[in-house]
Amino acid sequence: MIFWRKCRIYISVITFSLLFGCSPEINYKILTFFFDGVPDPVDTENIPLADTINITDSTSELTAAIVQKPEIYVHPPYKEKDCAGCHDQQKFGKLKENQPALCYQCHENFSSLQHALHPPVEAGFCTECHNPHQSKEENLLKRTGQKLCLYCHDQKLIFANDIHKSIDDEDCTNCHDPHGGDNVYALQAGSCYKCHLNFEDKYRFVHGPVAAEYCLECHTSHALGTGERLLREGQALCLYCHDKKQVFQNSTHEDIDDMSCTECHNPHGGDDQYILY
Ligand code: HEC
Ligand code: HEC
Ligand code: HEC
Ligand code: HEC
Ligand code: HEC
Ligand code: HEC
Ligand code: HEC
Ligand code: HEC
Ligand code: HEC
Repeated sequence: MIFWRKCRIYISVITFSLLFGCSPEINYKILTFFFDGVPDPVDTENIPLADTINITDSTSELTAAIVQKPEIYVHPPYKEKDCAGCHDQQKFGKLKENQPALCYQCHENFSSLQHALHPPVEAGFCTECHNPHQSKEENLLKRTGQKLCLYCHDQKLIFANDIHKSIDDEDCTNCHDPHGGDNVYALQAGSCYKCHLNFEDKYRFVHGPVAAEYCLECHTSHALGTGERLLREGQALCLYCHDKKQVFQNSTHEDIDDMSCTECHNPHGGDDQYILY
């Protein structure tokens, strides 16, 4: 949408520049007469200079702008006037069922797709995020960007966690799945690697939970501050998943006593299968 609006201004400038000559200062006066809100030409950051624009390009831009008119996304059952798909016409249009069952009549149940659901999804607050009939946004969303999430989540609390301090205006859904997921906090694949070196690039063999990006099975949240921030210490970190009996059956481990496993093994990966240092 924002792109489209910029584009429209862009086109206006080009068209009028062709008619009235190319001095942005003069055009500004003419343009503001026709349109409100044409950016000041002195503000060179936000306005493309007309004489740098190729006319052939501007024609295709114009076509693109027409095609890119904000569309209304209409939910198919609403478009097809299948009102009875959701409303009970015998009961003055009351909803046939509560959400999420109402939506799962036609959509796959998220609880069968994902291990852990985002609470509003589980509780059936689908229409806190989606419009059931139509929307100007894709995916029938009511809001976009961070606003979608900060509608319920307290902005102060979210940005109190160090991890969010450097995200600027990045969409929350770049790192979190809005419906839920298999990983803690519904983290999307690649979330940690947006800021940290990718272990897949660094090591030939990547440790199972690292490959799955279940980093938070060993690490604590950034909210707890600096340091390696491990959930457990010493052998307990590893024996949380590995069977103690099995590990100590291997003769290499006979004499390690209470040595930390990471004295020999790299927790993330290595050049051999045993992820040894
Ligand atoms: C996919 C399910 C679905 C379909 C199909 C559907 N509705 Fe709805 N409708 C809802 C839900 C859910 C609400 C409650 C709004 C909310 O929770 O935000 C609603 C609310 C309404 C309301 C109350 C006012 C409002 O907009 O919130 C009217 C009126 C309405 N629908 C009319 C219709 C008509 C007419 C059709 C058919 C052309 C239709 N609906 C098709 C799900 C649907
Ligand atoms: C916290 C906001 C939020 C809630 C609550 C939510 N959704 Fe979504 N939904 C989204 C977003 C954002 C997308 C866009 C795709 C994406 O980012 O994964 C989406 C996409 C979808 C899609 C299309 C793409 C896909 O993933 O299949 C469907 C269908 C859908 N949601 C259904 C539902 C239903 C049904 C519920 C309730 C059980 C629900 N949503 C609750 C935010 C939400
Ligand atoms: C009567 C069947 C039906 C019901 C009930 C229904 N949907 Fe849909 N919905 C569809 C169909 C068909 C599509 C288009 C195909 C697809 O994406 O699965 C769709 C698409 C969507 C999309 C994706 C739109 C896009 O822009 O790609 C979302 C989001 C969605 N539905 C949410 C909901 C929510 C939330 C509910 C419950 C309030 C619901 N649906 C109930 C039939 C239904
Ligand atoms: C309709 C309200 C609502 C919206 C919108 C919403 N959430 Fe939530 N979310 C909740 C509730 C309620 C909880 C459970 C309580 C809590 O942890 O704050 C939760 C929990 C979470 C959690 C898990 C927190 C934890 O400590 O386990 C994450 C991560 C999350 N939401 C991310 C998002 C993202 C990303 C979006 C936007 C796509 C979003 N939420 C939009 C209501 C919402
Ligand atoms: C938005 C950027 C960002 C993302 C995404 C991110 N981190 Fe970090 N991480 C940082 C910054 C900045 C620091 C240093 C400050 C601190 O310790 O809080 C850090 C520090 C760490 C440390 C401590 C390292 C040390 O040398 O002290 C660990 C461990 C860590 N992150 C793990 C993770 C894991 C696991 C994930 C994914 C769940 C992740 N990070 C995602 C930015 C990020
Ligand atoms: C099996 C437990 C375990 C898993 C899983 C794990 N880590 Fe670590 N991580 C450690 C330990 C232990 C250290 C302390 C330094 C060391 O011993 O090498 C560490 C240190 C770090 C550090 C700081 C030092 C460094 O090596 O850069 C970062 C950053 C980090 N981990 C990120 C991650 C990310 C990102 C993931 C997931 C992709 C992850 N870790 C998964 C155990 C784990
Ligand atoms: C660059 C990736 C990234 C983006 C973008 C991002 N998050 Fe997170 N978020 C994470 C990671 C990684 C964690 C878990 C690790 C941690 O807390 O150290 C997390 C944790 C959370 C938690 C649970 C812990 C807490 O601090 O309460 C919530 C809730 C949450 N995020 C919501 C949001 C919301 C809302 C947005 C958008 C405003 C957002 N996130 C944007 C990566 C991201
Ligand atoms: C969250 C669970 C988890 C934790 C914690 C964990 N591991 Fe693992 N580890 C795995 C999984 C899963 C595999 C892959 C198993 C497979 O491929 O058969 C694995 C594989 C290994 C292997 C390779 C085994 C082989 O036969 O190739 C070694 C060595 C290893 N882990 C050592 C450690 C050490 C040392 C720690 C502590 C720093 C640790 N693990 C912590 C889950 C875990
Ligand atoms: C003194 C160094 C050393 C320490 C300490 C150590 N390991 Fe090992 N580990 C090895 C070596 C060497 C191998 C390769 C064994 C082989 O070639 O069969 C190995 C192999 C493994 C394997 C794969 C083979 C198997 O037995 O399944 C696992 C898993 C493993 N170690 C886990 C651990 C855990 C968990 C700890 C901590 C309790 C630990 N190791 C501590 C040196 C060590």
